[in-house]
Amino acid sequence: MRSGLVLFLFSQVILVASSSRTDKCGWNKTLETDAVSFVTSPGFPWTYRPSQDCTWVITAPKPDQRILVVFNPLFHLYDTDCKHDYVEIYDGGDELSPIIGKFCGRVVPPKFISSGNQLLIKFVTDNEDNGSGFSMKLEGYKTFECSRNFTAPQGVITTPFFPEKYPNYMNCTLTIFAPNMSDIVLEFDRFNMEGNPWQKPVPICPHDWLDIWDGLPEVGIFIGRYCGKTSPDQVIAYSGILSMTITTDDATAEEGFSANYTIRDKRDSLVDEDAVDKCGGNISLKTDRVNYLTSPGYPLGYLPSQQCIWVIKAPELVQKIRINFNPIFHLEGTGCNHDYVEVYDGGDELSPTLGKFCGVAASPQITSSSNQLLIKFVTDDENQGLGFSVGYEVFMTELHSSSAGASLRRRTPKYPNNLDCTFMILASNMSVIEVEFKSFNMQADPTALQGVLCRLDRLDIWDGLPKVGRHLGRYCGQEFPHRVTSHSGILSMTVITDNRVGKEGFSANYAIRAKSLLPGHERK
Ligand SMILES: *[C@@H]1O[C@H](CO)[C@@H](O)[C@H](O)[C@H]1NC(C)=O
Ligand SMILES: *[C@@H]1O[C@H](CO)[C@@H](O)[C@H](O)[C@H]1NC(C)=O
Ligand SMILES: *[C@@H]1O[C@H](CO)[C@@H](O)[C@H](O)[C@H]1NC(C)=O
Ligand SMILES: *[C@@H]1O[C@H](CO)[C@@H](O)[C@H](O)[C@H]1NC(C)=O
Ligand SMILES: *[C@@H]1O[C@H](CO)[C@@H](O)[C@H](O)[C@H]1NC(C)=O
Ligand SMILES: *[C@@H]1O[C@H](CO)[C@@H](O)[C@H](O)[C@H]1NC(C)=O
Ligand SMILES: *[C@@H]1O[C@H](CO)[C@@H](O)[C@H](O)[C@H]1NC(C)=O
Ligand SMILES: *[C@@H]1O[C@H](CO)[C@@H](O)[C@H](O)[C@H]1NC(C)=O
Repeated sequence: MRSGLVLFLFSQVILVASSSRTDKCGWNKTLETDAVSFVTSPGFPWTYRPSQDCTWVITAPKPDQRILVVFNPLFHLYDTDCKHDYVEIYDGGDELSPIIGKFCGRVVPPKFISSGNQLLIKFVTDNEDNGSGFSMKLEGYKTFECSRNFTAPQGVITTPFFPEKYPNYMNCTLTIFAPNMSDIVLEFDRFNMEGNPWQKPVPICPHDWLDIWDGLPEVGIFIGRYCGKTSPDQVIAYSGILSMTITTDDATAEEGFSANYTIRDKRDSLVDEDAVDKCGGNISLKTDRVNYLTSPGYPLGYLPSQQCIWVIKAPELVQKIRINFNPIFHLEGTGCNHDYVEVYDGGDELSPTLGKFCGVAASPQITSSSNQLLIKFVTDDENQGLGFSVGYEVFMTELHSSSAGASLRRRTPKYPNNLDCTFMILASNMSVIEVEFKSFNMQADPTALQGVLCRLDRLDIWDGLPKVGRHLGRYCGQEFPHRVTSHSGILSMTVITDNRVGKEGFSANYAIRAKSLLPGHERK
């Protein structure tokens, strides 16, 4: 990208020298397909004339096409307030159109794209100081079209030309539709898109990226934005729709990605099939897979005067229940007085309520504090909506503790979703506990903001009891501590995972050593 601009600079200088046309103060032009055009201040790149007032109107080759504008890095208008000498750009064919920007000084204006098929460029100078002026390259903005819908029960999805480099200016939406709201399991074999070379937190993925949603783009649950070599690995959509948008800029392409998907029949995982489309029921959860219940008739519409109560129960007292409302949610009304769905934190309606929902939005994720959760659905006798669907699953809680020696492992091909595990290593006599990580890979949180790291899957480590002892760190992605030491006689680690992407996890060994009298010189 950066080298592209330098080339452009040189070709531009040659072009200016050989052409007088571009030098004129104002003209109108319809761009030619696949050709670039330049608008330059008269005299560029030497010095512009005083008392100029030039206007150019540029039209894209096609009525529905937009215009991409890139400024030459040699930019100098002798003014810092843009009062006397400036270049002003309007997002349309006349000066009544919205102003994109008014530029002066030495700061090169950013590249931009018109929102319609015309741009008006105005260049004004006073009769005093001068500068070298400006030059801008204009071309019809062509996005590379590769949008596709997938409805087959399984398939392979790649970026265009994979494993060759993908095209520039991609703006594609890929959507997988599963029948009967089945789960969609998408697995990435390879992933490489232009990343963030400066590793700055913001913006994430400034050049090329892949966005993934469980549901329709911009509407469904956002799973994440990916670029660089951070592969999403495995993604599961529970709403029956998985969509991806690919966006690439004008330079530096990589090989892209290849992934395959399968549609997994939800009925395999239904513990109580009767809960689907039935008005209420008692559901005993037996597996750790996601099950669904829906308002009767969903998504086509529910009946008037209903009162349905579902009680979901997990087998173990230490377990919790987590629910996720499908984003396609629609109950008549806004005040939740007529039609609503209410969630209780327990097995009866005397339990505290976790939320009451109506209209078109329900809280996406709710977790009970015990092993029972009640969902109540009430409708009045008029004006019906489409209803709701909610996924429910056991939110696992495991407790492992151990008192000495040996090795600690969590290494399966992929760790399970919805883990909430605590490992505690207890040493006698306040000995030193040392944990050494052999490998580590947990789902990264590429969009993490400062201060809220690893929101998806994470490992927390404490010197002492969880949440009580000294916090030694939080880790996800491929960053891990290599070696941690506890001096309190207890070292705890908690592993939290979400319900989407699983990775291999980590493997670590630990050793307990007698505390030495000299800190920092512990003996083996
Ligand atoms: C350019 O087009 C505008 C209307 O879009 C018109 O007012 C103006 O006179 C034209 N200028 C030239 C130099 O043809
Ligand atoms: C700018 O204009 C002044 C006259 O106002 C002239 O003396 C000077 O050489 C010009 N500067 C450049 C860089 O051409
Ligand atoms: C994919 O399906 C959606 C919804 O049915 C439709 O709006 C869109 O145009 C389709 N896209 C393609 C590329 O067929
Ligand atoms: C990409 O496509 C979407 C929908 O098709 C559109 O809303 C958006 O403006 C496009 N973005 C660019 C940069 O063309
Ligand atoms: C959807 O589910 C219905 C009833 O459970 C079944 O008859 C139908 O074959 C399913 N459709 C597909 C495409 O699996
Ligand atoms: C994708 O392909 C790999 C082998 O290339 C296979 O192991 C995996 O099960 C496939 N995944 C899906 C979701 O089809
Ligand atoms: C669910 O269980 C409760 C009490 O355990 C019972 O009163 C109720 O009738 C049961 N509901 C159904 C639909 O079986
Ligand atoms: C703990 O320390 C005491 C005294 O220092 C010693 O007698 C005891 O054997 C130690 N216990 C263990 C389990 O090492």
